[in-house]
Amino acid sequence: MFTSLRLPLIGLLSLTLAQAALAADCAPVQSRGAEVFANECGVCHAVSKGTTGMMGPNLAGVVGRKSGSLEGFNYSQAMRSKNIDWQAENIEQLITQPQAYVPGTYMPYMGLASADDRQAVVCYLKEQH
Ligand code: HEC
Repeated sequence: MFTSLRLPLIGLLSLTLAQAALAADCAPVQSRGAEVFANECGVCHAVSKGTTGMMGPNLAGVVGRKSGSLEGFNYSQAMRSKNIDWQAENIEQLITQPQAYVPGTYMPYMGLASADDRQAVVCYLKEQH
């Protein structure tokens, strides 16, 4: 009886701890993330809701959004068939080397070499709803 109760509790606890660690990881890099976004992404992507007409899709609310799904944006076939939900991990993979992660993508970006900068910019994107 005890063990069957304890296991899910431990699972729940470690999940909460992992989420706390994630949130804590983001706090110190918040302003760095905005800077990286402005330098590396802002020329093609907007994060203010409703802004259109940029080369890349609007990234407001991109975390949790299905890839290639923003209404009215003309994605590559590659991005439309990628069929993933954007999360911190796979956005970091995308921006490491877009052409490797989504072969045939229209995103003409060579990649962000610094893992710290990748993490910072993804933390920033998480805040853009
Ligand atoms: C030179 C322009 C350009 C730059 C710079 C650029 N992107 Fe993109 N991005 C695009 C284009 C164009 C697409 C659409 C790709 C496609 O349809 O294959 C895209 C797609 C994306 C997507 C997928 C969005 C969706 O709706 O599925 C994400 C996430 C993304 N970019 C993040 C970033 C981040 C973060 C940076 C900066 C580190 C960045 N991009 C830099 C042009 C750019």
